[in-house]
Amino acid sequence: MNLKEYHTKDLLPGMTVAAPVYTKTGQVLVDAKVVLTQQLINRIQFYNVPTVTVEMEETKEEPAKKGDFFSQNSLLHYEQKSTDSTKGAVAEPSYSQKIKKSAEFQKFQVDFSFSANDLKLIFDKIIAGESVDINDMLNKITSLLHPEQTTIDFFDMLHNLRSINDSIYAHCINVSLISRMIGIWLKLPNEDIDLLTVAGLLHDIGKTKIPPDVLNKKEQLTDEEFALIRKHPVYGYEILKAQGLDTRILKATLMHHERCDGSGYPLGIKENDIDNFALIIAIADVYDAMTAARIYRAPLCPFQVIAEFEKEGLQKYKPKYILTFLEHIATTYQNNRVMLSNGESAKIVLLNQQVFSKPLVQLNDGSCIDLNRSDLYIKAII
Ligand SMILES: [Fe+2]
Repeated sequence: MNLKEYHTKDLLPGMTVAAPVYTKTGQVLVDAKVVLTQQLINRIQFYNVPTVTVEMEETKEEPAKKGDFFSQNSLLHYEQKSTDSTKGAVAEPSYSQKIKKSAEFQKFQVDFSFSANDLKLIFDKIIAGESVDINDMLNKITSLLHPEQTTIDFFDMLHNLRSINDSIYAHCINVSLISRMIGIWLKLPNEDIDLLTVAGLLHDIGKTKIPPDVLNKKEQLTDEEFALIRKHPVYGYEILKAQGLDTRILKATLMHHERCDGSGYPLGIKENDIDNFALIIAIADVYDAMTAARIYRAPLCPFQVIAEFEKEGLQKYKPKYILTFLEHIATTYQNNRVMLSNGESAKIVLLNQQVFSKPLVQLNDGSCIDLNRSDLYIKAII
């Protein structure tokens, strides 16, 4: 077991304290061998303790075993910020590692898997014609969110779940939670936010009627297969209609692939005829699909997704909804370190309110680049 001294500001939940942490007056704040929680870290910071010695496992530099999620994302793969061990090797985990190693993420991951299983059972019940309890569904899904959680925690947790679950159920949970977040940002009434959350959860239920070999086909789809997949909003609407659910849930299921400019399906209707819940779920759905890894490409980073939305044409989405969404996503990452398309690392210092994908960034040498006046773009959050 190696020991490392961390500045208090760099402590993370999940780290194991190697030696007791004392206040200046000699009172024990945290005992040795205690695993840090955010609450304990706050306490240590409150007492102005400068550094804490933390246990590091000796396998630190070993490559992760392929296919082993916990091993790949263990807390041990830290980038060394400084090689000066006399100052107490202060290491800085990369952004994604920081999240994956946190106790909150590991809990979220377990809860999420349970929710995905629960949702499969709910879908099965609905398809079998049994009635389901909407409130129970809502409680299960909202229990994934915690009041103290910030937007950044939530979106990062979703992004970091990618490697483990990309089923219809996981997608529906993601869309439900992202839609709920948009509803909160839009300051919708609480009852609407809850109904929107349920609508997000059920929006793709029609996909259960599509044969899995078509849905998961790795090769290019034939025209017939493509047409079949495009029927899932109608299938979903028909399945849910039998449940006698709120019409907004039914409309959201039927219309979540419609676009404001009339370019969507299955009806090809325009903004004024599309249900507001469907317009919100459309954004969450596209965002989730773009940030997911696909067979033909790696997952896009949130700024590439924002750029895609901007490139694809914001006119496809309800202006108030899409602008609120993009602004919040971009703001989430303000002050974060990012990797630019030329491989350099930088920090986001100022958002561009006209083009959210191209903020002003500061390089390590202190100079700034306005990405809106440069060919460079943000490739990854680090
Ligand atoms: Fe869909």
